[in-house]
Amino acid sequence: MAGVLDGKVAVITGGAAGMGLATSRLFLEQGAKVVVGDLQEGETGALAATFGDAVSYLRTDVLFEGDVEALVGHAVQTYGGLDVLFNNAGYGGTIAELDQLKMESVDRTIGVLLRGVILGYKHGVAAMKARGGGSMISTASVAGLTGGGGPVIYSVCKAGVIHLAKCAAIELAPHGIRSNAICPGAIRTQLLSRAYGISKEEAEPFRAFLAERAEAGHPIPRIGEPDDIAQTALFLASPASKFVTGQAIAVDGGYSADPAADQGQRAALSEALKAFRARATTPA
Ligand SMILES: NC(=O)c1ccc[n+]([C@@H]2O[C@H](COP(=O)([O-])OP(=O)(O)OC[C@H]3O[C@@H](n4cnc5c(N)ncnc54)[C@H](O)[C@@H]3O)[C@@H](O)[C@H]2O)c1
Repeated sequence: MAGVLDGKVAVITGGAAGMGLATSRLFLEQGAKVVVGDLQEGETGALAATFGDAVSYLRTDVLFEGDVEALVGHAVQTYGGLDVLFNNAGYGGTIAELDQLKMESVDRTIGVLLRGVILGYKHGVAAMKARGGGSMISTASVAGLTGGGGPVIYSVCKAGVIHLAKCAAIELAPHGIRSNAICPGAIRTQLLSRAYGISKEEAEPFRAFLAERAEAGHPIPRIGEPDDIAQTALFLASPASKFVTGQAIAVDGGYSADPAADQGQRAALSEALKAFRARATTPA
């Protein structure tokens, strides 16, 4: 059966875990060739077992321009060009309060979350211009839409990613390149469990626990799934969105529509964490 991304080449940063992995899988199922750029190989071996040469992995740290340039170069050399770049790699960054910030950590946070996306644009756009068009997609956050949704520096970077998507859309439209951002709510990934202080060993049971609970603080009463983001990325990568550019699309179960949502979400997730801890320590 024909896929909506047949003949397309996509680069996905942070594509070895979480929502990036879900997107890598969905793009491959829809016929794309996918290059995963990530610090870790993660689940890309399992993707290769299913999709063979259609997927390849290149160790990439988006902090470094040489890595991002090599990643795009790898897509062009291996698959003949670049049509879609999903700038998705990320982490929580520094969580220190403002007067306690260590500037090295601030620089790293901005380096990965904002400068890394700018590097994606720099090198991805050059390859897309050569191809005659393309789609740039970046993972921002609801934390970039409003205060309180995440740590301060993280939120500032995500707001920057949203503005970059809008400003770039105007510059790139004449080149046939669209530019959009996705703003996830709370999505059931490693990043979310880390943000709640869950250890690596507990991460899987905690994510399973969250999936069973309705109280995630989103008006649609569940936690977000990586596939919710992958489906939106697919829409933005595919011709279905050919008149959509310069947008920040919230995929958050209605969180950003409710000014009181942040308080509700923090309470709901703290409650979930307490219940998980209680369950973990209660003898069976
Ligand atoms: N999970 C959430 O609730 C949530 C909400 C809003 C936004 N986001 C954003 O979504 C994106 C994906 O996060 P996730 O939740 O899937 O997390 P995740 O931890 O499951 O996956 C992130 C992936 O990015 C990779 N990565 C981290 N730093 C990198 C770097 N410097 N260079 C290359 N790869 C790097 C990691 O190795 C990992 O494979 C991030 O940008 C994050 O800020 C997450």
